[in-house]
Amino acid sequence: MPRMMFDYVDGAAGNESASRLNCQVLDAIRLLPRVLVNVEERSLTKSFLDREWGLPFGIAPMGMCNLTWPGADAILAQAAVRHDIPLCLSTAASSTIEQTRTRAGDNAWFQLYVGHSNEVSMDLVRRANEAGYEVLMLTVDVPQVSQRLRDLKNGFQIPFRIGTRQFLDFARHPAWSLGTLAAGVPVTENFTDYAASESSDKVFKAWIRNEGRGRIDWQFLEMLRERWPRTLMVKGVLAPADAVAVKERGVDALYVSNHGGRQLDSAPAAIHMLPLIRRAVGEGYPIIFDSGVRNGEGIVKALALGADFVMLGPAFLYAIGADGERGLEKIIKVLGEEISLAMAQIGRRDLIAIDGSLIYEHEIEE
Ligand SMILES: Cc1cc2nc3c(=O)[nH]c(=O)nc-3n(C[C@H](O)[C@H](O)[C@H](O)COP(=O)(O)O)c2cc1C
Repeated sequence: MPRMMFDYVDGAAGNESASRLNCQVLDAIRLLPRVLVNVEERSLTKSFLDREWGLPFGIAPMGMCNLTWPGADAILAQAAVRHDIPLCLSTAASSTIEQTRTRAGDNAWFQLYVGHSNEVSMDLVRRANEAGYEVLMLTVDVPQVSQRLRDLKNGFQIPFRIGTRQFLDFARHPAWSLGTLAAGVPVTENFTDYAASESSDKVFKAWIRNEGRGRIDWQFLEMLRERWPRTLMVKGVLAPADAVAVKERGVDALYVSNHGGRQLDSAPAAIHMLPLIRRAVGEGYPIIFDSGVRNGEGIVKALALGADFVMLGPAFLYAIGADGERGLEKIIKVLGEEISLAMAQIGRRDLIAIDGSLIYEHEIEE
């Protein structure tokens, strides 16, 4: 894919130190093997939010996935159904709320960004409700989109501006460019209706990537809690005190994440905060985790440190970008195999039995 698209997926805020740290810290965590347990049969199913899932991981919300491959959103939705995993549709997706619900049924969740228009945001909530979504996820860690230096350098923005630099980038990737043109240049589909009666460049008016989203506060969350009748989740919490405050407002589940390091470059590794948040909210409160997970053992580590479920984002887009639907199938299969192999090594037949006792803490001798 063109450099600009790869960098949009792969890049992060500032020096990208938070993004690197997420992976480094996860890598450095050690799991202690346990032996002589009969692990011939192992199950990868996981219950989470009153439902059994085929695997303990799902697809994190990502805007404009169709930039990686024509029809990527549809490919993701089909895979979510096939493997019985959740797919979280982003507000800024290149497919609509309604299309995705039709494609993925109960496997689809909806992620909400609240932009400059409260009216439009609440209309998105109404549409998600009417389409029958079970889970609404409010992302709270993007009060303002951070400076992602690769995007700035490449001139990446939504709506698109295609200048000489971008044109040359596309010309160097003819298969991507022709495929994308043939499928229709991706737009933030959830917003097209709001400006449908206006001239075409107003189509984007309701979704501008770099606009401020800093207006929402605890009162907004309380209002949303009252309005949304089913499962409500808050994504992008790192401070244990915030986690407790979210729980106290009747939110059903917490999503611990530093947005893959795409927001605050000096943020702590999300995995460092996970056990602290688990301790703060107590056992039994549903926690989902992402940021830095790149393999099956990473998923097992997050489960051991207090998560009930794990999401991955760019890993799926790298796979689709490399080989479309086949690439995605392959990575889901590989992740499942890696989890299963790790379970064999740590002597666990079921995911529910993965707990903190598996984390090896190196004891320093005095
Ligand atoms: C290309 C891309 C687009 C994203 N768009 C959104 C989004 O629209 N809403 C959101 O809540 N998070 C978004 N995220 C963040 C992911 O949901 C997730 O938190 C993050 O990628 C996880 O960290 P990891 O990249 O280390 O796996 C996006 C991430 C990527 C890579």
